[in-house]
Amino acid sequence: MDDRPIGVFDSGIGGLTVLNEIMEQLPGEDIIYFGDTARIPYGTRSKETVIKYSFQCIKFLLSKNIKAIVIACNTASAIALKEASKHFDIPIIGVIEPGANAAVLTSKNRKIGVIGTTGTINSESYQNTIRKVDKNTEVIGIACPLFVQIVEEGWEDTDVAMLTSEKYLMELKEHNIDTLVLGCTHYPILRYTLAKTMGKGVNLVNPAYETAKATKEMLKDKNLLSERLNTSNYKYYVSDDPEKFRRIGGNILKREIRDIKKVDIENI
Ligand code: DGL
Repeated sequence: MDDRPIGVFDSGIGGLTVLNEIMEQLPGEDIIYFGDTARIPYGTRSKETVIKYSFQCIKFLLSKNIKAIVIACNTASAIALKEASKHFDIPIIGVIEPGANAAVLTSKNRKIGVIGTTGTINSESYQNTIRKVDKNTEVIGIACPLFVQIVEEGWEDTDVAMLTSEKYLMELKEHNIDTLVLGCTHYPILRYTLAKTMGKGVNLVNPAYETAKATKEMLKDKNLLSERLNTSNYKYYVSDDPEKFRRIGGNILKREIRDIKKVDIENI
């Protein structure tokens, strides 16, 4: 048993979709969240930069006496998790493996679509992990970079979201997939639009939900679960604009975000 907090990080506010699931599934765990709001997006950056940024986020969280780290960002998980697990001596979990495993379990016709940032899709991390679990599965990855902006503008239920979704997902519809992985922190917020575009025969997999489940299992296996039944001890750190984080983040979390501090992440 271990009452220290879990550290969670993302490139900005998107990781709050993962945090939300962790709060629901692990109500006794204290959490420290870091959003790298000064340097978002990670999804368009080079591998070297995403690794450098992710290592700085991890070093910051390690200064807070945490017991484990959840990389809530799909791009950072796809590109930096392997390196980070080798480099840091603390349990670290990302969103790719939980999402990929759930997709394989969900698909019946073994045709799976994955959508994410350009960095996530180009890394082939979801594609390779899915094929590792089931080599006979066909995986089609599509980068949908505009979705992040659409969600950050609060346009998830508009015609703009619908038209963009139809344009991006056209190819996936032609491949007759039956499962779609929402491989970016922002996409669960677009789920109604995405579900409408893909139609009834396609199941959506939310890696945020699956990651919270996997985090619980990991903490249990390592004897790191907290003894508490409930907590509301959540602390937030950002690298820029705490006020914007409070406003937009509060909408995603559906609760007021109180304790937010700004951090100079470049000098970590
Ligand atoms: N959090 C990122 C992800 O899940 C999306 C935003 C970004 O590009 O940084 O891939």
